[in-house]
Amino acid sequence: MHSIAYTDPVYLKEAEMASRETDGLTDTYCARCHTPIGVLSGEVPPIGLENLSEISKKGIQCDFCHSVNKSTGIGNGAFMVSPDGIKRGPYEDSKSPYHGSMFSDLHTKSEFCGMCHDVNHPVTGIPIEATYTEWKEGPYNSTTQCQDCHMTPGVTHFEANPGKASGIGPYRDNVYTHYFVGGNAAVTGVMGSEVHQRMAEERLKSAATLALDAEMKDNEAEITVEVTNAGAGHKLPTGLTEARQAWIELQVKDAAGKEIYHSGGLDSEGEVDPDAVIYHVVLGDASGNPTMKVWEAESILLITGYYQRRHGLRSTILLYLEV
Ligand code: HEC
Ligand code: HEC
Ligand code: HEC
Ligand code: HEC
Repeated sequence: MHSIAYTDPVYLKEAEMASRETDGLTDTYCARCHTPIGVLSGEVPPIGLENLSEISKKGIQCDFCHSVNKSTGIGNGAFMVSPDGIKRGPYEDSKSPYHGSMFSDLHTKSEFCGMCHDVNHPVTGIPIEATYTEWKEGPYNSTTQCQDCHMTPGVTHFEANPGKASGIGPYRDNVYTHYFVGGNAAVTGVMGSEVHQRMAEERLKSAATLALDAEMKDNEAEITVEVTNAGAGHKLPTGLTEARQAWIELQVKDAAGKEIYHSGGLDSEGEVDPDAVIYHVVLGDASGNPTMKVWEAESILLITGYYQRRHGLRSTILLYLEV
């Protein structure tokens, strides 16, 4: 997703719409995280792909991340980049005949990711994405960095990936992978990366566990669905939760197999049943109406599910059925 952060068709459409509706106010704001080199080199604005060099089209790429020499804080693209050509990374003993190398503690910490993985509306301050803050306020902050789950084969924990980071480098007990897989199994598929799509599906499957309990009380069935965020180091879902949603689909059948209750199904248009238990964020515009346009956000109307709970670990839903 980093390598396509600017060419991502979903991003391009949304950035175009934001630009049109704000007379270009969002242009460099959005692009700073989606193509940092495009902004730092002055190629953006204008937005779109026409004015962009090949390197800026690569979104968040090697040279950018490994040239970051300082963070000025959390969120909204709080990075500083050095023009000295020295590559920053996690090793103290890294020597390359091609470029200078330097140890950077920042690269080994969640604060590196937090420079971009917290997005606040620049005018109203409304949190639009809060993955870093969720991690920081959650139970993983002292044990597991973003890198441990997103840059190792462990998915839900650190798991060493021994090998060589470069053909001419030494053998190491762990070399961080660079798949950066999250939950996006849609765009990775559209962009033709089956490997990332498959990994995103696997990751989503390991994020939560479900438990079902049904109890008969006279003429009523009490059904408890318990969802546990078992694998994500932040809330579930996280990131752009105003555009993404997770929901529970529950179907109850009688002994003959006839459906007597159904929550969370899709209608013929592919819309989720509005009465379903949905986990997402609903933003409000200036008039207090729901909006999916993040640039219009002046309030948060609804935060459901895991989002509501500070550590987002467990949520229980009770349904009462008359039978
Ligand atoms: C999103 C930022 C980002 C991008 C893009 C990125 N890296 Fe990294 N890279 C990191 C971080 C962070 C670490 C250190 C992880 C740690 O120690 O916790 C790292 C580690 C490394 C290392 C040290 C060895 C290892 O893997 O542990 C090498 C070499 C490296 N990156 C090369 C590259 C190359 C080549 C590319 C492009 C193909 C690239 N990186 C793209 C962030 C990035
Ligand atoms: C320069 C800003 C920037 C930095 C630094 C950065 N990211 Fe990202 N990251 C992004 C953007 C922008 C996207 C979304 C690209 C898209 O959806 O088109 C993204 C996407 C991702 C995704 C895929 C999300 C999905 O929906 O599947 C993961 C996982 C991820 N980043 C993890 C990390 C981790 C871990 C670090 C720190 C080592 C990090 N990122 C550092 C900006 C950044
Ligand atoms: C304990 C392991 C773990 C840690 C720590 C962790 N993540 Fe995740 N992350 C996951 C899992 C599992 C998923 C897939 C489920 C989901 O989408 O929430 C995920 C999903 C994501 C996504 C994709 C969201 C989406 O809906 O597509 C992003 C972006 C992300 N993580 C970034 C980060 C950042 C940044 C950090 C550090 C601040 C971090 N993660 C820490 C396990 C972890
Ligand atoms: C502070 C950094 C930052 C800024 C500023 C930013 N984004 Fe993002 N954006 C991200 C990160 C990180 C993700 C990935 C989170 C996830 O996958 O849930 C993302 C994901 C997205 C996605 C989802 C793409 C997909 O394939 O699902 C869209 C669309 C998007 N951003 C549009 C925008 C627009 C439009 C703006 C400006 C109004 C903007 N972004 C500003 C960091 C940023």
